[in-house]
Amino acid sequence: MTDNHTRNETYSPGLMKGKTCFMSGATSGINRQIAVRFAMEGAKVFVMSRSQDKVDDTVKELRGLGAEADGMAVDVRSYPDVDLAIQKCVELYGKLDMVLAGQAGNFVAGAAQMSSNAFKSVVDIDLLGTFNIYRAAVEHANKPGAAFLAITAPQATQPHMFQSHVCAAKAGVNMLTKCCAMEWGKSGIRVNAISPGPIDDTEGMKRLSGSPAIVEKYKQGLALKRMGTKDEIADAALWVCSDAARYVTGTILEIDGGTVLGDSSMAMEL
Ligand code: HXC
Ligand code: NAP
Repeated sequence: MTDNHTRNETYSPGLMKGKTCFMSGATSGINRQIAVRFAMEGAKVFVMSRSQDKVDDTVKELRGLGAEADGMAVDVRSYPDVDLAIQKCVELYGKLDMVLAGQAGNFVAGAAQMSSNAFKSVVDIDLLGTFNIYRAAVEHANKPGAAFLAITAPQATQPHMFQSHVCAAKAGVNMLTKCCAMEWGKSGIRVNAISPGPIDDTEGMKRLSGSPAIVEKYKQGLALKRMGTKDEIADAALWVCSDAARYVTGTILEIDGGTVLGDSSMAMEL
């Protein structure tokens, strides 16, 4: 480690050597960093999101790291398309060991102002999308050692003003995590979620942040007094999907600098 929250990019012990990973929403932000970390650890990575350009750019970066990588542009709300992408991943790499459902949609809007379709869009991307991925993947990853991981948010357990759509969707993701963990544990499949706090330099924080003064006040309200890094979430994802976490399932890992200890409802100030 180069300081207390940045990993030295040359670090690469091969924790994911030979593992095949399907990663939804891994073409930007936090999830892309997870893809990069897993690739550096020896994984074969298949990424999926809507934009062909973002898929191509990510695959290029992962191959540049020496990893086997591919991807497909798919909207997670379409089950047949998700199923096709997962089939392509399995055809290419012969097996499936790890599944990430990281895709999400977010905007700030009051429950009395947003349309029914606006609410539905976020629930469909975050919650139905996670179900679609898990449902299509489980038959290919139905074996001991398989790891399923969703990315949730503090909104799942803390009510936030102007985030009713996100709170409802992510609460569903938490419950889906626990139900699948219970149903699939007998096959040796582990199902967990990570709940990141505010992560610097991400689309999510761009959409939720107000003025620099508000952001500073918000940071002072966090136990660790700073935002997290994408790398810190990738570290947690690596641990929870590795055999080092082999007795961990149905868990919502809060990697959030203490966000849920206090009032972190930044949207209240917007
Ligand atoms: C109110 C809005 C809106 C806004 C869109 N809509 N933006 N309503 N306020 N700001 C409405 C539209 O009018 C439409 O309703 C409906 O939502 C669907 O919009 P589309 O643009 O047609 O949908 P789509 O192309 O599917 O886009 C989905 C999206 C978009 C969620 C709206 O923003 C998106 O693609 N986001 C992906 C990237 C993203 O959000 N990243 C951040 C994730 S971070 P009508 O009625 O007009 O049809 C995150 C952080 C959580 O989740 C925690 C942080 C601490
Ligand atoms: P981001 O960069 O916007 O990443 C979202 C990803 O999802 C992109 O790859 C996007 O690619 C994909 N995506 C969106 N809609 C999709 C759809 N309909 N079908 C398929 N893919 C879709 O966001 P981020 O800020 O890094 O957040 C990543 C995850 O962390 C999300 O689950 C978010 O809720 C969670 N989170 C973030 C924070 C934060 O501080 N940023 C905090 C807590 C939780 P395309 O545009 O190509 O589809």
